[in-house]
Amino acid sequence: MKSASPPLMRRKLTPLENYFSVRLKKDLIRGLGKHSHHRAAVKMLPTFVRATPDGTEKGDYLALDLGGTNFRVLYVRVVEEQQKVVKMDSKICSIPQEMMLGTGEQLFDHIAQCLGEFLESQDLKGQTLPLGFTFSFPCEQKEIDKSILIRWTKGFSCSGVEGQDVVKLLKEAIHRRGDYDIGSVAMVNDTVGTMMSCGYRDQSCEIGMIIGTGTNACYMEEIKNVKRVEGEDGRMCINTEWGGFGDDGSLKDILTEFDEVVDQTSINPGVHTFEKMISGMYLGEIVRLLLVKMAEDKLLFKGETSEALLTPGQFETKYISEIEDGLENAQKILTALGLNWDPVDACVVRLVCDTISSRSARLCAAALATISNRIRVNRGLDHLKTTVGVDGTVYRKHPNFSEELQAAVRLLAPKCDITFLVSEDGSGKGAAMVTAVAQRIWLPGCMLSFIFLPIFVYI
Ligand code: BGC
Repeated sequence: MKSASPPLMRRKLTPLENYFSVRLKKDLIRGLGKHSHHRAAVKMLPTFVRATPDGTEKGDYLALDLGGTNFRVLYVRVVEEQQKVVKMDSKICSIPQEMMLGTGEQLFDHIAQCLGEFLESQDLKGQTLPLGFTFSFPCEQKEIDKSILIRWTKGFSCSGVEGQDVVKLLKEAIHRRGDYDIGSVAMVNDTVGTMMSCGYRDQSCEIGMIIGTGTNACYMEEIKNVKRVEGEDGRMCINTEWGGFGDDGSLKDILTEFDEVVDQTSINPGVHTFEKMISGMYLGEIVRLLLVKMAEDKLLFKGETSEALLTPGQFETKYISEIEDGLENAQKILTALGLNWDPVDACVVRLVCDTISSRSARLCAAALATISNRIRVNRGLDHLKTTVGVDGTVYRKHPNFSEELQAAVRLLAPKCDITFLVSEDGSGKGAAMVTAVAQRIWLPGCMLSFIFLPIFVYI
């Protein structure tokens, strides 16, 4: 049984979260603006998804999922009777570090190879199942199957992909092989996939949030507020790309020296400031830098460090969850890191982990509360009842992250009654769900054009 660490239970909400809400609110509006979106730190990307599931969708789909160190191919079935997306089979291919930093051609050849092997193993070569591609990076969606990568995040930096159409690169890689072909492609961000897959179970799901290697959220916005898209009626899902919050310097006064080092030593300095304070790719490194500083200041480990503690990346984010889960874990991890610890050190390290994960949960809560409040005000409601589909290793695996985030959201958005629904493989199955919704609401033949209708986009 996991226990919440005592310091967490005693804390009260600080003004930090309110500060964030005010700033973020302005940035959301800037990102939606017709003329201001070009220089907006929070990109607020229109996804052209205009409808959430109603539970009547069905059919077989292929899904691709690229967003972290693994690439996955899935064969999924949407079963109407059970209101379920069932994974028939899947294959995982790891993406080696060199490939994350190599050329785009190498990356897409690898993806095409993985997909080819999967189709072969499932006897699906030659079939033209609709394919959903969850690509979890900021993209300017031009059409359902045309999505331009704005920039890489989360440790990826493949050359020749930024500014290019990702679907085109995938198709070119498949044609280079020449042994199979694919049918129609629907591109989705993982937040959108998460919202859509949760939306099948709970039709009031209108927000998708990821707190994993990276962080981001999407939500259903009134079209009349999306100034880059023509139209007055209805709603459209907006991929906020909130990880970029602060990239214009708006969070400078609350960044710590440790945040600054993490940014400077990352492969993309100055980019995704908010994400670097929050997500799994960076939390372990923030804790490591803090522990080194405390040891140097003779506050820990009798003033000594170890080779492992001094090596960037050696304090993994999963250690934070393990250490907060119990002191015994803390002791084992400190020993494995070659540190000469005493019982007080172990308690202090646990407190450091709690402080960093707690800050992350509260910042996310502030961002989520801002979005929920915005939806409520948009609709002229005194009280909003809504559901957030959520996924990501930090949210799922940390012993009290979700609890703390939810408590802070309740304080910051008291007029919003929010249900949190953990997505069952949203980024894998969600892309299939997007294609399924499209099939439900439009005639076969021009099926994908309704939910992804690019009426007119001002770029
Ligand atoms: C990307 C987002 C993605 C998030 C979570 C961020 O780095 O920019 O597009 O949704 O990570 O995977």
